[in-house]
Amino acid sequence: MREERVGIVGVGAYLPERILTNYDLEKMVDTTDDWIITRTGIRERRIASDREAASDLGAKAAEEALKNAGLTPAEIELLICATITPDMLFPSTACFIQRKIKAKDAVCFDISAACTGYIYALNIAEQFLKNNTYKNALVIGTEKLSAITDWKDRSTCVLFGDGAGASVLRKVKNGGIISSYLASDGEQVDLLKIPAGGSRMPASFYTLKERLHFLKMEGTELFKHAVKLMAEAAEKALNRAGLSCKDVTYLIPHQANIRILQAVAKKIGLPMEKIYLNIEKYGNMSSASTAVALYETVKFKKIKKGDIIVLVAFGSGLTWGATVIEW
Ligand code: ACO
Repeated sequence: MREERVGIVGVGAYLPERILTNYDLEKMVDTTDDWIITRTGIRERRIASDREAASDLGAKAAEEALKNAGLTPAEIELLICATITPDMLFPSTACFIQRKIKAKDAVCFDISAACTGYIYALNIAEQFLKNNTYKNALVIGTEKLSAITDWKDRSTCVLFGDGAGASVLRKVKNGGIISSYLASDGEQVDLLKIPAGGSRMPASFYTLKERLHFLKMEGTELFKHAVKLMAEAAEKALNRAGLSCKDVTYLIPHQANIRILQAVAKKIGLPMEKIYLNIEKYGNMSSASTAVALYETVKFKKIKKGDIIVLVAFGSGLTWGATVIEW
C-alpha cells in the first residue's frame, strides 16, 4: 500500500485593491515603463492600504483557503505564517492571524525564509501531519513589502508588491506531496537585507537618516544565484520523486524576474508554456508569490487531479527549495 501523503486541500489568496503601475512609478523615480517591463517583466503591483498589515492580508487569504477546504477555523491545529514583513517584530504574525480568523485551537508561529518562506512552511507542516501530531494545518505566505521598500531607490522600488496566499494541508488518499528539497547559504546574508531595526542595529536617529530600515539588494549578484539554485532545486526535488521535467504539468515558481524564469526554463529544459507566470500583475511578493501563483493555477483550472506540479523558490538568506506535488 502507498505511504499516506499530505496534500493541499484548499487554497486562498488576497491581493490589495490599489494598483501601482509602471507609469505611476515614472512619476516617483527616474525610471520608465519600458525599462521595468523589459528588465523584469513587471507591469503593475498591488499596494496595501495604510490600515492593512501583513496579518490582515494573510487572514483574508486564510479564510478563503479554509472555505475551499470545507474546514472551520476551529479545526486548524497548526498555523504557520511565512513573512519578512511581520506586523511587529513580535508577537508573531501567525498569532495576529489566529485572533482574526478565530483559529483558537491552533499552534501558531512565523518562519523567516524570505521568498522561499511558503515552501519552507509547507514542508514543516507536512512533517507535523505525516507523523500524526496534527490533522489540519494552515500555511500562509503574506507580505506588505511596500512597508520596507525605499520609494526613492529606483533599483528596488519597481520590483516589489503586496499580497498573501494560503493553503490548507491534511493527509490525502490520492495525490499529495511526493518530495521536497530545501537548502540555505548563510555566507550570502548580505545580498538582500534590512540593515536596521533588529538587535544588530536598533532604530536610532542615524538609522532613520540613512534609510537603513528599507530593503537593500545586490540585484545582479542575486540574479546569478537565483537561476542556478532554482534550477538545481527543481531538479533535485524531481529526482527525489523519481520523476523528470517531462512529467511536469506546471512549474509554479517564485516570481522575482521573468528573465530569471526564462533562464531557469532553459537550464532544466522546460518550455515557457509550462512555467506559471503572474509577475506582470503583482511583481515580487516574496513569500506570497509562490502561494498566490499556486492559487491562480487552481482558480483558473490550469491543473487537474493527477497532474504533477513543482513549486520552486529562491530568496534572501540565501534560501531556496522545491516541492513536487501530485495534484
Ligand atoms: N529604471 C531605470 N534604470 C534602472 C532602474 C530602473 N528602475 N534600476 C536600475 N537601473 C539602471 C542601473 O542604474 C544601471 O545603470 P548603469 O548601467 O548606468 O549603472 C542599469 O539600469 C543596469 O542595472 P543592473 O542592476 O545591472 O540591471 P539588471 O539587468 O541586473 O536588473 C534587477 C536589475 C532587475 C534588480 C535584476 O538584477 C534582478 O531581478 N535581480 C534578482 C532579484 C532577485 O532575485 N531577488 C531575490 C529574491 S527577492 C527576496 O528574497 C525578497
